[in-house]
Amino acid sequence: MQFEVFTLLPEVFPSYLETSILKRARERGLIEVRIHNIRDYTHDKHRVTDDTPCGGGGGMVMKPEPVFEAVESVLEMSFDFSLKEHSASAPDGAIQTQVEVVSQTPIILLTPQGRVFDQTVAKELSQHKKIALICGRYEGVDERIREGLATDEISIGDYVLTGGELPALILIDAIARLLPDVLGDPTGAEDDSHAMGLLEYPHYTRPPEFRGGKVPDVLLSGDHAKIDKWRRERALERTYRKRPDMLERAGLTEMDRKFIESLRNP
Ligand code: ADE
Repeated sequence: MQFEVFTLLPEVFPSYLETSILKRARERGLIEVRIHNIRDYTHDKHRVTDDTPCGGGGGMVMKPEPVFEAVESVLEMSFDFSLKEHSASAPDGAIQTQVEVVSQTPIILLTPQGRVFDQTVAKELSQHKKIALICGRYEGVDERIREGLATDEISIGDYVLTGGELPALILIDAIARLLPDVLGDPTGAEDDSHAMGLLEYPHYTRPPEFRGGKVPDVLLSGDHAKIDKWRRERALERTYRKRPDMLERAGLTEMDRKFIESLRNP
């Protein structure tokens, strides 16, 4: 899967992308992350990427021209407000409609105004071959970037960061680990918190006793049916206590429901 990232701070990305699972995924060709400096798409002497807001007021706004140029150049597409449609040149020169471009490559603006990112959105985005991520900076981006270029807006939570760079890395990380072969253990992503709609069960490793804290006997019993049951119940219990809102959307069996009922009425 290919990630095209558009940013004014390209130096933020390498250290994280060159570490651990993402590094291995890149080396094995499972993901490709290309970082594009929006400033490279300016044409003036001072390479200006922001300007004062029309209508006055404080702060600076990201200018539309370099952002449009960067995305259009990398994705080989163009947008014109007077035509109100995206078009793209396919490798054979055929013109694609906006719908085709959109379905091929989501162009995501990272912004606190977007829909909130979660595991379901990560799964949805992981189905694409390529996604583009635009990192906003300053107080905001020119509205025409939202109207004419972005096909989606995503927030990583209800708080405001200084830019979209950390959100972009968060999306890349969460999406990459859902792709086939990225995690060493093939069941790795399935057991994650949120993947099953529940928080994850507790994990232990050796030693069996540490400063008086013991690994539960069942995990040392070798009885896999019992271990599975214990893990499922702990996941249900944790979710019930910490994130009861998640239970409504989790796929619960009749046995799960009975177990949760026993927590409600001990
Ligand atoms: N840019 C600034 N804050 C953000 C947030 N919460 N999510 C995504 N992009 C952002």
